[in-house]
Amino acid sequence: MTQAISTPAAQVLWVFGTGGTISGRAADPKDVLGYTAGEVSVDALLGDVAVPDGVSVRAEQVAQVDSKDMSWAIWQDLAQRVRAALMQPETRGVVITHGTDTMEETAYCLHRVLGPAVAHKAVVLTGAMRPASALEPDGPGNIADAMRVACAPGARGVALCMAGRVWDALQGQKLHSGRLDAFGARDGEAFAEVCAGEVSVTGDWPQPSGDAWAHALAAEAPWVELLTSGTQASARALQALISAGVEGVVLATTGNGTVHQDLLRAAEAAYAAGLPVVRASRTAHGNIRDGHPQAIPHAGGLSPFKARVEMMLRLASEQQAVLA
Ligand code: SIN
Repeated sequence: MTQAISTPAAQVLWVFGTGGTISGRAADPKDVLGYTAGEVSVDALLGDVAVPDGVSVRAEQVAQVDSKDMSWAIWQDLAQRVRAALMQPETRGVVITHGTDTMEETAYCLHRVLGPAVAHKAVVLTGAMRPASALEPDGPGNIADAMRVACAPGARGVALCMAGRVWDALQGQKLHSGRLDAFGARDGEAFAEVCAGEVSVTGDWPQPSGDAWAHALAAEAPWVELLTSGTQASARALQALISAGVEGVVLATTGNGTVHQDLLRAAEAAYAAGLPVVRASRTAHGNIRDGHPQAIPHAGGLSPFKARVEMMLRLASEQQAVLA
């Protein structure tokens, strides 16, 4: 259902709700842990949030999930609706309310599939660490900030906005399981901040992705798994996955892209035999820099989680190209 929340204005700011703690509810307002995510509608979330001047808000509920359960099917629906909204000339920008646990994966997916659709408009994802029912919820402030970012002059690209800081879809990631300012950059800084409703941009707005895999989500979700390398890592899990028909593997590596020798031998053999395999560092920050030549490519500055999204979208887009 689409609902106009404020008085009509020349430009439209879309808000798509997908669930998460931001729409979570607990029986006791003092309870910020024992809540159920994805209960409060996006219309209700917008109830007390101040809308930026000159826009009217249109809200749509796309999903109502705990983002640990985010799915390819929801991504398909969300990406389609966001793209349709961006194509309307009166659209100023888009905000998405999302659970924080996989927000960075959805942001990265949208970055890759929207491509030039965000060359002149922004899609800003936001969430909350406390449920909507909390005595002092952080959701309303985060939504207000995200709206201001989406409406800021020059806004473009896919961004994440939490606790007054804003990152692009490559950099932004959840780094803390409980703090209100749970997000940070993979390797760098926030490109903007929001304080008392004012957006200060200190870096560059996110660059739209060059090769947009617009149709990738129309394919079946490819089966891509993450395998972690560490003490006593072995080839057994990889062999089991290959026997079961896995279509791609991301190795969450130690340090600068290194893999336990027992797992590495099997992974190199699988890669040589045609299985897509990529290395992404399991460290919280930094990127893999080339050192010794390695047979298996690396994912540069992508976390293992975003490298997995990247591989899923690449394989899906190859499937689509074969069908075309
Ligand atoms: C979720 O990701 O849906 C639950 C946790 C959160 O939003 O903080």
